[in-house]
Amino acid sequence: MINIRTGREIDLIRQSSRILAGALRLAASRIAPGVITADLDEEIGAYIRAQGAIPAFKGYNGYPANTCISIDEQVVHGIPGQRALQSGEIVSVDVGVLWNGYCSDAARTFRVDVISAEKERLLTYTKQSLYKGIDQAREGNRLSDIGHAVQSHVEAAGFSVVRDLVGHGIGQAMHEEPQIPNYGPPHQGPRLKAGMVFAIEPMINAGTWRVRTLPDQWTVVTEDGKPSAHFEHTVVITKGDPEILTEGD
Ligand code: MF3
Ligand code: CO
Repeated sequence: MINIRTGREIDLIRQSSRILAGALRLAASRIAPGVITADLDEEIGAYIRAQGAIPAFKGYNGYPANTCISIDEQVVHGIPGQRALQSGEIVSVDVGVLWNGYCSDAARTFRVDVISAEKERLLTYTKQSLYKGIDQAREGNRLSDIGHAVQSHVEAAGFSVVRDLVGHGIGQAMHEEPQIPNYGPPHQGPRLKAGMVFAIEPMINAGTWRVRTLPDQWTVVTEDGKPSAHFEHTVVITKGDPEILTEGD
């Protein structure tokens, strides 16, 4: 069942999302060569708690940190640690916030200093594909229209869509129905309705779409070691244009 949220619930998810947008703004201001990812994680966690909210990833299925920080060939779920960011890397920061019982989820991939033209292109197309997907999150469309828009956009540029991980409904739980693949044919699946709240999150690889999980049981990496990018927003479907709740700047 896909939850239809009341106005009051959407307001709480909106508030949760606003705190999350602030956390990602903080991340953006901190990303630089030499930054230790565990320190960035701590700072983001402290920021969220200072707003009276809870970092929602910590403890989720035993996840050990406040955020997921994934560098270069790491696709998602990188665990912050003693690694220092280096010039030329791309780093995705994925954050979840729990606020008065309601969740939000968003991620951005940042450049550390100057990056290669190929990574620049990967970031551009991945971010664009998120907005193409969001633009399909409209009452009357069907669920698979979202993933189809993402896939068409990035494959035309020669990039590939991760299959093993998907976007999701979100609300009182971080992951609710439906699953939202970033690929597939158009016009399939349930019809979208105002009040549905989705976390849309293309994970796009420069090379093969195939991924594997490191022995730490969390970090997902590309099979070919080529870079991957990830952008995510929490979005509510309305009677009109989709509202991006986690948009921060
Ligand atoms: N942001 C991830 C997602 O959208 C959730 C991270 S998993 C966690 O699925 F365990 F780290 F919380
Ligand atoms: Co998510």
